[in-house]
Amino acid sequence: MSDDLTAPQAQGEAELAFEGALRPKTLTEFVGQAKVRGQLQLLLTAARLQERTADHILLAGPPGLGKTTLAMIVAAESDRPLRMSSGPAIQHAGDLAAVLSSLVPGEVLFIDEIHRMARSAEEMLYLAMEDFRIDIMVGKGAGATSIPLDLAPFTLVGATTRSGLLPNPLRDRFGFTAHLEFYSDEELEQVLDRAAGMLELDIDKRALAEIARRSRGTPRIANRLLRRVRDYALVHGQAPSGRDAARADLAAVQAALELYDVDPLGLDRLDRAVMETILTRFDGGPVGLSTLAVSVGEEAETIESVVEPFLVRIGLVSRTPRGRVATAQAWRHFGLEPGRGPSGAQQPLFTDNL
Ligand SMILES: Nc1ncnc2c1ncn2[C@@H]1O[C@H](COP(=O)(O)OP(=O)(O)OP(=O)(O)O)[C@@H](O)[C@H]1O
Ligand SMILES: [Mg+2]
Repeated sequence: MSDDLTAPQAQGEAELAFEGALRPKTLTEFVGQAKVRGQLQLLLTAARLQERTADHILLAGPPGLGKTTLAMIVAAESDRPLRMSSGPAIQHAGDLAAVLSSLVPGEVLFIDEIHRMARSAEEMLYLAMEDFRIDIMVGKGAGATSIPLDLAPFTLVGATTRSGLLPNPLRDRFGFTAHLEFYSDEELEQVLDRAAGMLELDIDKRALAEIARRSRGTPRIANRLLRRVRDYALVHGQAPSGRDAARADLAAVQAALELYDVDPLGLDRLDRAVMETILTRFDGGPVGLSTLAVSVGEEAETIESVVEPFLVRIGLVSRTPRGRVATAQAWRHFGLEPGRGPSGAQQPLFTDNL
């Protein structure tokens, strides 16, 4: 696991507990994603009016944007119990059958990382989603028979960072697919403001804005950076003595984030590795996705679904029919010039966060 402060996945136990406590509980509390929120609200309200289970929902988007949070909100807002499972935990059709057959009527079943479920289970899920029914195979070989089993109606909420990996028949069976987008700086400020309250951190607006700007458009990263700023503020004694409350201003934020090598744009190690490859090894591109993936030692899907959307969004990379190309802004940000390599005493592309 990476120790990178801005890496989407790096999390300790305290971090997880804090994350849980910070999760908004209702759609109204949920910041940003206005479009998705409106769509979900409509879908849930219609289901409630007709006293039926809501349609199956697929949540797609990069890590840390709120998929798990939304799944919990769907259950809470429709006042239904929630069962949580995940693709990697479903390695056989039998694993899925056990979960499905024990659902209570109306239950919300959340399957995280649904693209990692076993193929055989996927096929069972098609029927379950469509007809609330599964066929259970009993016995082996020539004597095997299948016994149909009726299920309680349920709402499936699937989450995936790689919706492109889902087979079409599965994707088509969701009544609604929500594509989560990176958050704007203003939205992240709202997320941070709420979290600062819970951390009893006294922090001003400029300081919050600085953290937001370096959070890679991702609430989870914003909250994590805020905790490091809180640590810094505690240790550097801007807190009234003897109390577990701290105060942070812009200077404290800058010092804390500098200490942890958080890039001014919030780029993480993989982002930087991709940029380094495009800029210095391929002189700005174009570079094909698979070449890029091999160069940085990552799966092409991760580059495509986690790294690239952010780099495109902040204007460092553009996609062309011939491959990925670095923009003029990218050259400037890294202090490089096309065809010339490093142009001066700029910060190295590879700095380890932490
Ligand atoms: N819209 C939001 N408003 C406030 N906080 C949010 C929002 N979205 C996410 N968060 C915060 O970010 C954290 C991460 O969100 P969540 O676990 O739902 O992301 P995820 O998309 O499920 O990530 P992964 O793909 O890694 O599972 C949560 O603890 C929550 O506090
Ligand atoms: Mg999640």
